[in-house]
Amino acid sequence: MFAWIYSFLAFVGGYALLCYLYEQLRTPWILLRESGDHAPSLRHRFGSWAAITGSSDGIGKAYAKELARQGINVVLIARNEQKLQAVAAEIAEECNVQTKIIVADFTQGVQIYKHIEEELKDLPLAILVNNVGMGMPGNLIKYSSEQVQQLLETNVLAVSHLSHYFLQHLRASKIKGALVNVSSGTELQPVPYAALYAASKAFTRSFTLALQWEAARHGILVQLLSPNFVVTKINNYSKRVMQGGLFIPTPEQYARSAVAQLRAAVDATPGYFWHHIQNAAMTAFPWRLRLTLAQLFFSKLTDKQHN
Ligand SMILES: NC(=O)c1ccc[n+]([C@@H]2O[C@H](COP(=O)([O-])OP(=O)(O)OC[C@H]3O[C@@H](n4cnc5c(N)ncnc54)[C@H](OP(=O)(O)O)[C@@H]3O)[C@@H](O)[C@H]2O)c1
Repeated sequence: MFAWIYSFLAFVGGYALLCYLYEQLRTPWILLRESGDHAPSLRHRFGSWAAITGSSDGIGKAYAKELARQGINVVLIARNEQKLQAVAAEIAEECNVQTKIIVADFTQGVQIYKHIEEELKDLPLAILVNNVGMGMPGNLIKYSSEQVQQLLETNVLAVSHLSHYFLQHLRASKIKGALVNVSSGTELQPVPYAALYAASKAFTRSFTLALQWEAARHGILVQLLSPNFVVTKINNYSKRVMQGGLFIPTPEQYARSAVAQLRAAVDATPGYFWHHIQNAAMTAFPWRLRLTLAQLFFSKLTDKQHN
């Protein structure tokens, strides 16, 4: 009787360990296989033009600059024209590529997508990075209705409309490009005091992982990019995060690593080595326990006035 129970427990334990290892090692394995000098350049693999939303600051700006360093022409999309022009000027000074800016505020309704499509229509766009996002820490009941609406428009509607447009564009132009949707480590479990933000990223995760299959049969890469903390102004509410550290890279460090992982055609990744390690440790725990830890951590991080 006991021997039977031991065998059963050993089987369940072995199965759970194999599932865990598969999840943790799949991306490092693709990276090992596809990285190195033999890996084709981004231009060769996907094409010569990329558009990046939310590229006037933070991860989007650093990502655009890193793509430009690798010889990709970039279209910078965000809401502040002056900041966009400054980023375009920095890129033009450092890299020998073309730039274009599109001023678009994603909280201004559906017509903004028509404007973006019109601006992009003559370019052989091969890479789209749906990076734009916003987040406000705190208890949902403290949000205004406008803030709820703006978060959904920026974090959910933008990625939905632009993925739809871009995949249609790639099919029509027969370009085997890449769609990168920027999610967040908060996609892995609900996060009290960032409830709407984490839910919007769970949407991005589900949406992107499903699109991967729809696009793969046409030779198009759809990548889910899910950073943990990076030192950008979205985290202004926390002095601790803004100090940075081993697990909290600068946007430049993060973008260098994330763009290398795009070049390796990885399809789902935190984008940064130490975020892989963090996720491997966190996902060893059940999601309810992670939710409790996230609640403790986040309510402490989001200083008292936000709770
Ligand atoms: N930083 C992190 O710790 C972290 C972690 C996980 C995931 N992420 C995700 O990474 C992405 C980039 O975030 P970030 O940290 O780089 O944030 P950020 O520094 O605040 O930059 C956000 C970018 O989006 C633009 N933007 C914001 N709202 C917009 C709107 N309504 N219309 C047009 N552009 C708008 C901003 O423009 P302005 O310059 O005008 O503000 C800026 O260019 C987001 O999707 C975020 O959820 C970030």
